[in-house]
Amino acid sequence: MAWEKAIAESELALTGRKVVKIGGNDILLIATREKVYGVANQCPHLNLPLQNGKVTDQNTIVCNWHRSEFHLEDGTPAAWSNWPPGIGKMLANVSKEKPLKTYPVRREDGFIWVELPD
Ligand code: FES
Repeated sequence: MAWEKAIAESELALTGRKVVKIGGNDILLIATREKVYGVANQCPHLNLPLQNGKVTDQNTIVCNWHRSEFHLEDGTPAAWSNWPPGIGKMLANVSKEKPLKTYPVRREDGFIWVELPD
């Protein structure tokens, strides 16, 4: 495990988001009022970009493709492929339910740091 400097804190506004590429990882940083989260920018349903997903008051992100929903803290699914009606459920069987990859994030010396696996 290694901590990598991702971006300056000033690049991530309060309640903002930013995609960074570090060591071959496409990471979506999301700032809520409480903390900054780091998650993979690929939805584990069909590997489509997650960066435009809606962040909820429960600190989950809802993928805007088929509305799978994941907890930002640990990536566990709260919903799996719910959209569009009928077709979403069919697409749910294309890929088994799995968690969203998450990355430990910390703020230090004015920067956002992300811990990458070895
Ligand atoms: S790609 Fe995200 S829910 Fe299907």
